[in-house]
Amino acid sequence: MSGKMRVGIIGAGTIGSVHADAYKKVADADLVALCDILPDRLKEKAERHDIALTYENYKDLLANPDIDCISVCVPNNMHAPIAIDALKAGKNVMLEKPMAMNPAEGEAICAARDISGKTLQMGMVRRQSPDAEVVRELIQSGKLGDIYQIRIRLIRRRGIPGMGGWFTTKAESGGGGLIDIGVHFFDLAMWATDLWNPTRVSAKTYAKFGSPMEDYNYIGMWAGPPDYEGTFDVDDYAAGFVRFGTQATMSFEVAWAANATDEQMLEILGTKGGVKVGGDTILLTEVDGRLADIKLNFDKKADGFVKELTKFVAASKGEGEVPATGEQGVVAMKLIDAIFRSSELDQEVTID
Ligand SMILES: NC(=O)c1ccc[n+]([C@@H]2O[C@H](COP(=O)([O-])OP(=O)(O)OC[C@H]3O[C@@H](n4cnc5c(N)ncnc54)[C@H](O)[C@@H]3O)[C@@H](O)[C@H]2O)c1
Repeated sequence: MSGKMRVGIIGAGTIGSVHADAYKKVADADLVALCDILPDRLKEKAERHDIALTYENYKDLLANPDIDCISVCVPNNMHAPIAIDALKAGKNVMLEKPMAMNPAEGEAICAARDISGKTLQMGMVRRQSPDAEVVRELIQSGKLGDIYQIRIRLIRRRGIPGMGGWFTTKAESGGGGLIDIGVHFFDLAMWATDLWNPTRVSAKTYAKFGSPMEDYNYIGMWAGPPDYEGTFDVDDYAAGFVRFGTQATMSFEVAWAANATDEQMLEILGTKGGVKVGGDTILLTEVDGRLADIKLNFDKKADGFVKELTKFVAASKGEGEVPATGEQGVVAMKLIDAIFRSSELDQEVTID
């Protein structure tokens, strides 16, 4: 399809603004519409990003036949309703992470995509970072050999966002740190290794810092300030062990808050080499019979959101594949769902 795609963003909060800035740098995108239920925020963001059309009801935006593509940038409980309505309205959909509240909602989104024939892309921006691409290339080229273990440590010492708001209210978020930040690294690990078959999970989630909310000791609060009249009923720490059939395993710790040092680490172990993402990207291998630690250098400047949205617009035009599919989003949702189930049942659970 020739010409620019006309884009609308639904949700004018933090990530809606990030998408707006990024779309301005996508050559084939024309950002024309913005929607938010908060009129003051809508007006302020539309002016800031120079967006002509504004809507307080997303259904009115979807009814505009001139809009081709939608970014869904609202709280998690609204992902499925808006994505499904957008696909039914014939729009191409860029859906922020996590895909939905649970696997059933994710599957319903994929079904709506199939009926519509439109593009659906998951917002897994971490895949677009240069270190992630380098690690996937190493694995694809066989330099790590057979992959048998993945380690994830995604730790914020004090990083609960918007205490009392939608992030910490399970009915709106679907969960805490596990679904909010854990989904990024679960997706990254499965994408880098092509291990899209988690089969069994033994895990435990905790909520040790959010209740009572007033006792939470922190330095800064992303998406804050706290609303002590609100709700905190989600996890702030999760740990567990995942099997990918008999082929490989994954251990993980994901924390919004813990008495532990901040860390963002994904380590992948193979028979010929191991690699670590987070900080320097180091390949641990053997060269001519000697153990070798190889620091990989590459251009780290690329903007992941611009890359992600460029690919979304191209796919919407029929000029490429989406980098993150709805089916992969459903697998991530099934894994997170299994972690919650295992914790509740206090036993290992299976994933269908
Ligand atoms: N990819 C990333 O790295 C990343 C980073 C941050 C957030 N996110 C995701 O983006 C989504 C939004 O997060 P955020 O931090 O921008 O939240 P936010 O609270 O800053 O913004 C959400 C906005 O959606 C609006 N909204 C709520 N319901 C709406 C509706 N029915 N119609 C229109 N607007 C509605 C709210 O008024 C608010 O302005 C979440 O799913 C989050 O997980 C992704």
